[in-house]
Amino acid sequence: MYFPKGVPRNIATPTWPPPSYIPGSVREIKGLNQVVERLNMTGMVQVPEFVEAMPSSIPQFVFMTCRVGAEAALKQEVARSVPDWRPAFSRPGFLTFKIAAGSRVDIDQLADRQWTFAHAQGICLGKLVGDQLQGLVEQFWSQVGEHFSKLHLPSSSPEALGPFDLHVWQREPLHDAGELPTHVTPLCLEIESAIRVAAPGTYALKGTQPAPRRASPRNSLVLDVIVVEPNEWWIGYHRATRRAERWPGGAIPVPLPDHAVSRAYAKLEEAIQWSNLPLANGELCVEIGCAPGGASQALLERGLSVIGIDPAEVAPVVAGHPRFRHLKKRGSDVRRREFTGVRWLTADMNIAPEKTLDEVEAVVASPQAAIRGLILTLKLSEWADAARLPEFVGRVRGWGYRDVRTRQLVTGGQEVCLVALRRKALRRLGKLRRRQAEARTEGGCAAVKPPAPAGG
Ligand SMILES: C[S@@+](CC[C@H](N)C(=O)[O-])C[C@H]1O[C@@H](n2cnc3c(N)ncnc32)[C@H](O)[C@@H]1O
Repeated sequence: MYFPKGVPRNIATPTWPPPSYIPGSVREIKGLNQVVERLNMTGMVQVPEFVEAMPSSIPQFVFMTCRVGAEAALKQEVARSVPDWRPAFSRPGFLTFKIAAGSRVDIDQLADRQWTFAHAQGICLGKLVGDQLQGLVEQFWSQVGEHFSKLHLPSSSPEALGPFDLHVWQREPLHDAGELPTHVTPLCLEIESAIRVAAPGTYALKGTQPAPRRASPRNSLVLDVIVVEPNEWWIGYHRATRRAERWPGGAIPVPLPDHAVSRAYAKLEEAIQWSNLPLANGELCVEIGCAPGGASQALLERGLSVIGIDPAEVAPVVAGHPRFRHLKKRGSDVRRREFTGVRWLTADMNIAPEKTLDEVEAVVASPQAAIRGLILTLKLSEWADAARLPEFVGRVRGWGYRDVRTRQLVTGGQEVCLVALRRKALRRLGKLRRRQAEARTEGGCAAVKPPAPAGG
């Protein structure tokens, strides 16, 4: 088992996987096959229609996963935004919320909501408990089938629903010393494989193996299994619209190469990929708080030039790079003219968020700087600082950055990443560049065409 210490491991191991396990034995699940048939015939399901068709007397829940420790911050964030969603079940790294009686949320409305502290979210279909893999898999398809069979699918629609996918991940990621957190543990792969093999019909899930892992097709409907305990799975589904939603647990896979001088390399990569920042070859970026240099290294490897500001030493491999210049001082001591031609600014200082913003403001306010975008790490030395995020965002907007987003990165610590762009159009440029790059890469993440109708 791959759960962290202290978590009960009460699945009977001899039956995991069960010796009697017959691939494909759970084929005839009530409901789902009919749904699949209708999907094949109609091509498209208007998700709002089918979800809203559920009687409002049936209680509805949303699940969210977050960094362990961020649960209270996430509950506060939800309470500020949708006060009538009530916290229901809670475990470290996993929460559910009950939607107010009489109102419903559909997966597209949910996908429009962005949370700083939630790594993943979806419509919750409840909990499965069992001590045998096959039994849990049968419960999974039965519950999914029952839910979808209750939905009234439209008879015809203009577009296709697109393929289903499946994400299985662990609420508390596995941490190996020096490695990035792993949400998809070997246990999750084993569970995913068993669910895929037992999937009713070929439409529902493509392929029987989770590996090699690819991003779920854009806008696909993803069935979710959160392994809260090995013998307790919470299940649901979401629409994979944004980049993070296309990966299990919202964990975009980012590299941390052996030669990286710090984990900030991966953190910066995740920030860029999550936010679609259109960083381009040859542009100049300033990094305040750059030592020992992992983030600068990632920027250099993306072809940017970097001015690194930090009173501390930078690793020789970074300091000696021809496109890197180290200003060995504090940000506030740097002469403003140094910022001429700078397009991007990143800051990752181990100081209070308002102090980070003071340092950054001194740069963006300088007439020499025409900085298009910022990637700021706001350290939350106190969780109470999480409640001040709207104030921090407001301050950055006040500098003329119209598009400001925040996320607690999967690779980050007790901190929030704030990404700001002067113009929203820049994000569209970033998306366009990424999609072009994906389209060039075999196995990339370009949108997948919906399957052809059966027999077509
Ligand atoms: C978390 S580390 C930065 C990691 C770095 N971004 C990397 O990629 O390896 C924080 C750094 O902030 C620097 N720092 C703190 N206050 C600073 C200030 N006012 N100006 C510049 N650097 C500062 C510290 O010296 C320290 O090296």
